[in-house]
Amino acid sequence: MSAERPRTLKTVTGAGGTSETYDLAIDPTRSTLDTAVRVAKLAEAARIDALFTADLLSFGAQGPIGSQEPLVFVSALSQVTSRIGLIATVSTTFHHPYNLARLFGTLDHVSNGRAAWNLVTSSIGEENFGPGDLPGPEERYARAAETLEVVNALWDSWEPGALTVGADGKAVLHHDRVHPIDHSGPFFTVAGPLNIPPLPQRRPVQMQAGQSEAGQALGARYAEIVFTSLPTLDIAVDFTRKIRSRAERFGRAAGLPLIFSSLHATYGSTEEEARRLVREKRESIDFERGRTQVADMLGGGVDLSEVPLDSKLPESLLPDITSVNRRRGRVDIFTGYARQGYTLRELIVAAQDTGHWAAAGTPEQLADAVEERFRAGILDVITLSGLADPQQHDFAVNGLLHELRKRKIVAPDYTGTTLRENLGLELPARVPAPARV
Ligand SMILES: Cc1cc2nc3c(=O)[nH]c(=O)nc-3n(C[C@H](O)[C@H](O)[C@H](O)COP(=O)(O)O)c2cc1C
Repeated sequence: MSAERPRTLKTVTGAGGTSETYDLAIDPTRSTLDTAVRVAKLAEAARIDALFTADLLSFGAQGPIGSQEPLVFVSALSQVTSRIGLIATVSTTFHHPYNLARLFGTLDHVSNGRAAWNLVTSSIGEENFGPGDLPGPEERYARAAETLEVVNALWDSWEPGALTVGADGKAVLHHDRVHPIDHSGPFFTVAGPLNIPPLPQRRPVQMQAGQSEAGQALGARYAEIVFTSLPTLDIAVDFTRKIRSRAERFGRAAGLPLIFSSLHATYGSTEEEARRLVREKRESIDFERGRTQVADMLGGGVDLSEVPLDSKLPESLLPDITSVNRRRGRVDIFTGYARQGYTLRELIVAAQDTGHWAAAGTPEQLADAVEERFRAGILDVITLSGLADPQQHDFAVNGLLHELRKRKIVAPDYTGTTLRENLGLELPARVPAPARV
């Protein structure tokens, strides 16, 4: 983190890429980008730091038709914006590091230094990348770590001055300043160098999502930002303390990785209105369908069909975390709730936010909740959602964001030209070129 600048909270909003797909299906004359372009421009006008795309590689995972491919989607948005960051979620389990280095490298070039990668290891989608089952978490995270070693070495494989401008104005490549990486590991053999010139940011901003033990170890070692589900203050304090002390052991700078939490906000013009909206949401819950949602949050292997709604879950029904193959982070959160004595009904209510932080109130009250976490050092990046909807936009931008700026928690404007500069992130040390014999 750049020492001279006071710490401020960074902001992110969803880039879309999901609902737009419906538009195309419903009205082929409309470009799938209409809404996303409008949101991107609203977000940039509000000086929001970045646009975010999630991604799941399976039909039906994000609604009946899935979502657009994040890198292609944000590359298109890079051409209708000039300052806002572009975060693409991409899985290391189903991509090769040489392609990832080129894809994010090119996004950084076409956006003039606004690329960020939200690394995930995927918990579903193996049916589309057969043959074979989803590798276990240990293997998925080992592959992710090796992937990062490879892409970082590739992004660093051109020394400064490798490319100069000749007297004729044409580019001159100094081969002695471009190095192979000669990587050979359990998953990959990659000679390198990278075949695209040095990135405006040298490296895209590195994010990571996945908060199991293995996920935290990866995030502590490599991530500049970790995207997390931290539904309660206690969970947020515990997670931040653990991942920061781990990062310190890896010699990372203080304050890294930044803690990015998605906030599921329910806004009201008055406290009463917000309470009413929460009540209505709760009254609309299908508690029978909720049994499946909680079973999914518990790793999918438990049958809750016989558990009375107002009963606690017996310990015998709670999974052993080492037997969970898909999302251990979420299972940690929901077994924690069950052990705290939540009834099945309370677990179903919590599952509506899939383990994310949910808060309700007026923009001022939500600003209080955000300020509490920011001042406690357990929140560095927050989501502001729903900008496609005029009322939500008004609450999020003219309400909450305005209030956070009034309290000098969020900066009034962009401070740099690249995403890294806007986030105040220093460049990690360069991977040295392998010694040539
Ligand atoms: C807040 C959060 C958001 C995530 N978003 C995605 C996503 O968009 N796509 C995806 O494939 N996985 C996503 N994941 C899950 C990751 O793929 C993760 O690497 C994997 O499921 C294992 O997670 P775990 O370390 O929590 O067990 C997300 C995880 C978290 C905590």
